[in-house]
Amino acid sequence: MTTAKGILLAGGSGTRLHPMTLAASKQLLPVYDKPMVYYPLSTLMLAGIRDILVISTPEDLPQFRRLLGSGERLGVRFAYAEQPRPEGIAQAFRIGAEWLTSEPVALALGDNLIHADQLSSLLRAAAGRAEGATVFAYQVRDPERYGVVSFDPAGRAAQIVEKPAAPLSNWAVTGLYFYDHRVAERVARLSPSARGELEITDLNRLYLEDGTLHVERLARGCAWLDAGTPDSLLQAATFVQTIQARQGLLVGCPEEVAFRMGYIDAAHLRAEARRLGKTELGRVLGELADGAIV
Ligand code: TTP
Repeated sequence: MTTAKGILLAGGSGTRLHPMTLAASKQLLPVYDKPMVYYPLSTLMLAGIRDILVISTPEDLPQFRRLLGSGERLGVRFAYAEQPRPEGIAQAFRIGAEWLTSEPVALALGDNLIHADQLSSLLRAAAGRAEGATVFAYQVRDPERYGVVSFDPAGRAAQIVEKPAAPLSNWAVTGLYFYDHRVAERVARLSPSARGELEITDLNRLYLEDGTLHVERLARGCAWLDAGTPDSLLQAATFVQTIQARQGLLVGCPEEVAFRMGYIDAAHLRAEARRLGKTELGRVLGELADGAIV
């Protein structure tokens, strides 16, 4: 079990999903059968993280508290903090400065879904790294929408650029980042970019420049989706529905992860399954608690 902490960043303005996000948080919109935030939450929990700071807008934070509570239901601890304005992803570490300790910390974006074989061991390795930062790169068709990392001939990360007009590679940096104890001090040194944000890419570049940025390339068999546009939201929902219907297993279900990670026992999981009533999710969790699915 790691001592690393985790931040779930679920603010932003969600303008690409207007009008859906005019009166609702993007990260609480459904991705098939669960609120969007369940997917990155499951990812943090799979990394062995049990201390999680949820950051959202002042308007939306109460809804996250209502959904997630203290964390006791999942065998984890949630703390909550407001981001008054969307002034950048790296701002999460300024907001969380007092909550952070000298332990490593992971940051997960509330609209990102990662589904991959062996993900848990990959994540636990990143969470266990006491020095440096770890980011995950994924090949995409439209790298100009993301932070892009390029590699030298030996395969080492060479450059990292935010939303480049002419990308040097098609490897996008995903919305899951792990940092060592130096993160708060490094974020304190950042200045806002031309678009007025504290850029996560600028933070990653500081680690790259001193040779302590680990870039894990996710294989083509992995899925990384963000649900920030109507098309990607629909694709994410279809992806989850397809895998779950085919396998009878769940994607991004924090109750399941809590049980498999040993954060809650079978009796606790059974109670959570009952809370979900007659849903298919509740039925599958009940079978898991009864040992009918392994
Ligand atoms: P984006 O998708 O870049 O921004 P957004 O969510 O505001 O959406 P849009 O571009 O449609 O207006 O943000 C990525 C994730 O990071 C998303 O989950 C929101 C979150 N975020 C914050 O919580 N605070 C911030 O200051 C920023 C920039 C993003």
